[in-house]
Amino acid sequence: MISGFWKNLPKPIFGLAPMANVTDAAFRRIIAKYGKPDVMWTEFVSCDGLQSPGQKELLVDFMYSEPERPIVAQIFGSKPDNFYKTALLIQELGFDGIDINMGCPDRNVEKQCAGAAMMKNPKLAQECVAATKRGAGKLPISIKTRLGFNKNELDTWLPTLLETDVSAITIHARTRKEMSQVPARWEEIARAVAIRDKFDNSSNKTLIIGNGDVIDIADAKQKIVATGCDGVMIGRGIFGNPWLFRNCHSEAQTIPRLGGVGVGETLRGQHSPASPTPGREAFPAQAGNWPSPATEVDIAEKLRVMVEHTKLFEKLLGDKKNFHIMKKHYKAYVNGFAGAKELRIKLMTEAEDASAVEKIVEKFIQITNSPAAPLPLA
Ligand SMILES: Cc1cc2nc3c(=O)[nH]c(=O)nc-3n(C[C@H](O)[C@H](O)[C@H](O)COP(=O)(O)O)c2cc1C
Repeated sequence: MISGFWKNLPKPIFGLAPMANVTDAAFRRIIAKYGKPDVMWTEFVSCDGLQSPGQKELLVDFMYSEPERPIVAQIFGSKPDNFYKTALLIQELGFDGIDINMGCPDRNVEKQCAGAAMMKNPKLAQECVAATKRGAGKLPISIKTRLGFNKNELDTWLPTLLETDVSAITIHARTRKEMSQVPARWEEIARAVAIRDKFDNSSNKTLIIGNGDVIDIADAKQKIVATGCDGVMIGRGIFGNPWLFRNCHSEAQTIPRLGGVGVGETLRGQHSPASPTPGREAFPAQAGNWPSPATEVDIAEKLRVMVEHTKLFEKLLGDKKNFHIMKKHYKAYVNGFAGAKELRIKLMTEAEDASAVEKIVEKFIQITNSPAAPLPLA
């Protein structure tokens, strides 16, 4: 049954995937400002950890700001009592919903019978959802999972989850065994919708959100039409592109795009709906190996937003997280325009704080805007 904020979302739903050490409080604030999706998730946080003396450190990952709403707290674990207590805490913290991770393949998570390991313990998975519901009050519950553990188990696993009567189930269209090494199997999202409809064809049935390899909003829209799912969650497509969800519900999001650019020009993306989506093999699924972002944003603006992101990171997380996290973002932001390689190298090797990043970026913008300087930062 759909409840809480999920009832009021526009359809189809465009959501930002939770990504540990990527979609943190700083990046989400930037995304909320420049291209807000319909719903965002926090990075996942351990229920056991939150119920331990280490709680204070973990609460960093539950930091959020009002413009991010609706914002869903994502948790993982395997002890129903800790799910119950954590749900009470999440209510207190003022989140809009709670999401249970049942898909993470990380060995440390799985060792705790949590994340993807939940798929091997359907009864425990149901108990954890029930315990979360008991502690959640009116907050809606959702689940993020995969097609199965070693093989596709959608026919049994999805009904197991549907029995828990949660508001939404996001399915990353791969099995645990497949990790991210094969293309996401979107035909299975269509099958998930059929299984859900057979299970419950009321007007208030659990939402099915598809996930995996979606490049941009135009791609998401094609997949929604092809599968009949209620929405799409996008992860790596956001790398270096906080504008990704801007105007996601408008037709304009499907306009054709152009190629490479320089400062003073605008960046447009790699494919148009009129031409075929680029082969998935061109976009391997590993983190950091994602295509350079598709935006129509002036390069100088893009770089200044990167600086703004860096300053926010420093302010909110500077004493809690490693600056190396920002450097991973630079690889994605600084891509696909003249002088990008040189700028990227300079940022990777010389910048250790926001003020250094700002200086390097402003110099780059100044030099590249001057007609006398064909080789920026050379
Ligand atoms: C760096 C990174 C961190 C991730 N962290 C989480 C997480 O905390 N919780 C979660 O449910 N999934 C996590 N995921 C999985 C993504 O939410 C998503 O399911 C996956 O990237 C596939 O979607 P995409 O192809 O749109 O990126 C992570 C993925 C990446 C690349």
